[in-house]
Amino acid sequence: MSDRTWTVHASLDVSYRVAETEDVLSPENDALARAARTAPGDRRLIVVDETVLAERAGEIEGYFRARGVTPTVLALPGGERTKALVSVERIAEAADSVALSRRDPIVAIGGGVLTDLVGLAAGLYRRGTPYVRIPTTLIGLVDAAIGVKTAVNFHGHKNRLGSFHAASDTLLDRRFLRTLSTRHITNGLAEIVKMGVIADAELFDLLDAHAERLVDGRLDGPEGQRVIRLAVGSMLAELEPNLWEQDLQRAVDFGHTFSPALEMAAQPGMLHGEAVSVDMALSCALAVGRGLQGADEALRVLALLRRVGLPVRHELCEVPFLQDALQESTRHRGGEQNLPLPIGIGKCSFAVGVAEAELRRASALLHRLLDEAGAAA
Ligand SMILES: NC(=O)c1ccc[n+]([C@@H]2O[C@H](COP(=O)([O-])OP(=O)(O)OC[C@H]3O[C@@H](n4cnc5c(N)ncnc54)[C@H](O)[C@@H]3O)[C@@H](O)[C@H]2O)c1
Repeated sequence: MSDRTWTVHASLDVSYRVAETEDVLSPENDALARAARTAPGDRRLIVVDETVLAERAGEIEGYFRARGVTPTVLALPGGERTKALVSVERIAEAADSVALSRRDPIVAIGGGVLTDLVGLAAGLYRRGTPYVRIPTTLIGLVDAAIGVKTAVNFHGHKNRLGSFHAASDTLLDRRFLRTLSTRHITNGLAEIVKMGVIADAELFDLLDAHAERLVDGRLDGPEGQRVIRLAVGSMLAELEPNLWEQDLQRAVDFGHTFSPALEMAAQPGMLHGEAVSVDMALSCALAVGRGLQGADEALRVLALLRRVGLPVRHELCEVPFLQDALQESTRHRGGEQNLPLPIGIGKCSFAVGVAEAELRRASALLHRLLDEAGAAA
């Protein structure tokens, strides 16, 4: 007699909306009320980045009150230090204090730290509560708030605890960028350059043509709108077929091989996009070494990163550090290096077998390219 085995199959259909809107907190704009499924008499938990709240408290309160909805606002500071389990508990406690029902969306208004936190808390609260995201940083608009990943940092590791939990709606309002510091605009541009280099040559050319104007104007004009549209479109096109990351060869991991270790090691002080930029520069040198990208193309990428104000090297990136970082990323990718490298500009391939000698050659090549670029500048 054999033991009995039961196999359960189930699938979860996931769809979510990402939509542009203007003046999302204007009383005339219904997009947020629809997304948060409000009706008069309802209560809603609104988790807001502290800096954003300082500018927008009246508008947030007024928006909900005008619809007969009582908002309970929880303010959290931005920055990596907030991205910890204790913040998730604070959000869950606030949800309890509002007596949130299982179908009432939590509203998250803030940068990538805040939307990652609320996403994780919403996924855990009653094993899954809906939430709505309103990103207020560039990295949020084009990356953190449009996929399905949530996370907190843990045990010295970036994003070590997290989940996949899609927000039902994400509302993209570029006007939040008007108060964002230049450094955080630049930080977001790193993820946009990434998409241009590995997936979208048109986006890269657009960035190349308008780099300084995009930074100075905080992506306010028509070019800014086009850049954000292309970046969101290409990001979603990359994410959609592999939302749960069953395939661990991910083009969007370009710039994310060495950078998680660098970002954590260089805390406090280094921003996500800055670490990604240093990683992209080295990855381009690896690509040149493998004949995937011409030196002229790598120089264009390096020049663009510098023009928008991003770093392209860091003193911590000695070869032993890079080896450890690569090993950790390899574990994250299920045991294969799958190191995304650009093919020219606009396409991506995945490298395996990158060893110490190749890292050493790529570091040396990067220095030579940067000297050459410096001499030409
Ligand atoms: N889930 C994902 O797929 C994903 C993707 C990329 C990045 N991320 C995460 O996103 C985080 C980085 O995001 P971030 O750069 O937005 O960080 P952040 O949320 O810390 O925001 C950056 C700073 O800007 C401030 N701020 C936010 N909105 C503002 C506004 N409109 N005006 C003025 N100041 C404002 C914040 O208070 C903070 O000081 C990282 O933790 C990264 O891991 C997640």
